[in-house]
This record gives sequence, structure tokens and C-alpha cells, in this order.
Amino acid sequence: MNVLLNELHAYHHEVAGKINRVKALLQKLRHESAGSDDCKLLFKMLEALHGEAERHHHENEELIRRALLTTEAPIHPRVEDIERDHQAFGRIAGQLMMLEDSTKETSVIAAAIDDFITKYYDHMEAEENIFFPMADKWLSGIQWQEIKRQWH
Ligand SMILES: [Fe+2]
Repeated sequence: MNVLLNELHAYHHEVAGKINRVKALLQKLRHESAGSDDCKLLFKMLEALHGEAERHHHENEELIRRALLTTEAPIHPRVEDIERDHQAFGRIAGQLMMLEDSTKETSVIAAAIDDFITKYYDHMEAEENIFFPMADKWLSGIQWQEIKRQWH
């Protein structure tokens, strides 16, 4: 696979690891064995999913997605959803961060984070199984060069 796609793939792998740790903390929260330190850690980790690396990752994927739209590739509806997903994740992650200072019950917070995780997994899966292979197949060497020039 193209080296830039491999880079995106590696980032997904890293994020999946972080999400697994978030999930473990959520499990603890649900069983009420979590202390306030666990809670702080949970939000610290969510913050990491909402930082600059995440923004750059999405911007890089958008470079590829826009290039793909200029090819003859048959565009799968899930690829069309990707841009909307990227915008939504920025919004959702921001909302999750606000939960930290809210008075909402643990179960409400846990459900919101769970929902985010499900959506995120679904999104990564669509990118890895549909979007990346399509880009690999359809983008030309010149297009990859142009993408690389604008890459974060
Ligand atoms: Fe991604």
C-alpha cells in the first residue's frame, strides 16, 4: 500500500489502542470502582483524541478524498460520508470534553462516550476497508505527489 496510506493506517492503530484504554476506564466507571483520578485520566485520553494530531489526520484524509473525487473511481456512499464524519467528530469530541465539568450522571457520560467510540470504530473501518483501498487503486503517482506536498 502507498506509504501515506500506511501512515494513516498506523495512526488508526494508535487511536484504537487509546480507545481500548478509554473503554477499560469506562468499564471501571460503570462498576463504580473508579476514583476521581480515573475520571481525570479518562478525559485526558479523550482530549488526546481531539488534538492537533487528530485534526491533521483528518486533513490528510481529506486531501486524498478530494483527489479521489477527481478520478473515475465509482464513489461508494461510505466515502461520501467521510467528510461529514470528520466534521461530526470534531463537534462530538468538543461536547464530550464539556461533560467533564458537567453535573451529569456517570451513566449519561459513559453512554455518550460509548456512542462516540462506536461511531469512531465504524468510521475507521469504512476508511480502512473501502476508502484506503480505493485511493490505493485509483490515485496516480502525480496525484500522490501533490497530496504529499500538502501533507501534514
Ligand atoms: Fe482516519
